[in-house]
Amino acid sequence: MRSYRLKILRQRWFNKKIFGLEFRLPGIRPWPGQFFQVQVSDNIDPFLNRPISIASYKSGRLLLIIKSVGRGTRILSLKKPGEEVTLFGPFGHRFKPPGKKSLIIAGGIGIAPLHFLAEYLFRNKICFDLLYGVRARSEFILRHELAKMSDRSIFVAERGYKNGETVVSRMKKMDLSGYKIAYTCGPREMFVALQELNLPMPVYAFCEDFMGCGCGLCLGCAIMYKNEYHRICTDGPVLELGEIKFEV
Ligand SMILES: Cc1cc2nc3c(=O)[nH]c(=O)nc-3n(C[C@H](O)[C@H](O)[C@H](O)COP(=O)(O)OP(=O)(O)OC[C@H]3O[C@@H](n4cnc5c(N)ncnc54)[C@H](O)[C@@H]3O)c2cc1C
Ligand code: FES
Repeated sequence: MRSYRLKILRQRWFNKKIFGLEFRLPGIRPWPGQFFQVQVSDNIDPFLNRPISIASYKSGRLLLIIKSVGRGTRILSLKKPGEEVTLFGPFGHRFKPPGKKSLIIAGGIGIAPLHFLAEYLFRNKICFDLLYGVRARSEFILRHELAKMSDRSIFVAERGYKNGETVVSRMKKMDLSGYKIAYTCGPREMFVALQELNLPMPVYAFCEDFMGCGCGLCLGCAIMYKNEYHRICTDGPVLELGEIKFEV
């Protein structure tokens, strides 16, 4: 396992809860879906590192996009440019996206790893459309960049538009016949609702559920996949949605 002690080059707030940390880390070859275990503080409290996906990697610059939801992410949000942070990784299966016309389906902060996927598809000239949903309109991030990279982009919000919509309600109205593949990341309820739609194409889910060690040792991330328990951190985090059995 590799660890990197990196200086924060830039810290950027996208909205009240979501911020980005940018680092210089040349020489790695990360794949969409891979993530780092981020050490929150230099002492043992909080003890566990926090898994954060790669949101962008360009010319040796690494961007992590983080939603402040609890103690660990709040401590990270207080870090300033010039401060150092230790990252372990990148972890996760080296998932190579198939080169077919695809649909990216993002819910909330699930856009973070999918932004990196969008960069990959765009760089490799693979067409994709984007469907990105949030609860309130003010929560969208990187709209402009995402719209530029995708062939067609659809933004939906439950609040802030005249007709509030979710990703799932919009998908029910869409013609999905042109897509050979879909990629999704978002809350577990969205994954379950997508499973219920019985989509006509294979769907790859970027699973961002709870995690402990991040490197295959603790079984804290076990998930029922293809009728056996798998570890999201080492076997995933990108798994075929139709083969996951969520425990309710
Ligand atoms: C592989 C992977 C990649 C991830 N990538 C990103 C990313 O790019 N950006 C990002 O903002 N977050 C990402 N997450 C989620 C992130 O790791 C958690 O939000 C973070 O660990 C919470 O730490 P905390 O100390 O702030 O919150 P805690 O105090 O631990 O928890 C605060 C609240 O958040 C809930 N929570 C904690 N972890 C998760 C989780 N994984 N999913 C849903 N709810 C959770 C808790 O139930 C609690 O209600 C990823 C998770 C995984 C497993
Ligand atoms: S998080 Fe420990 S085994 Fe996956």
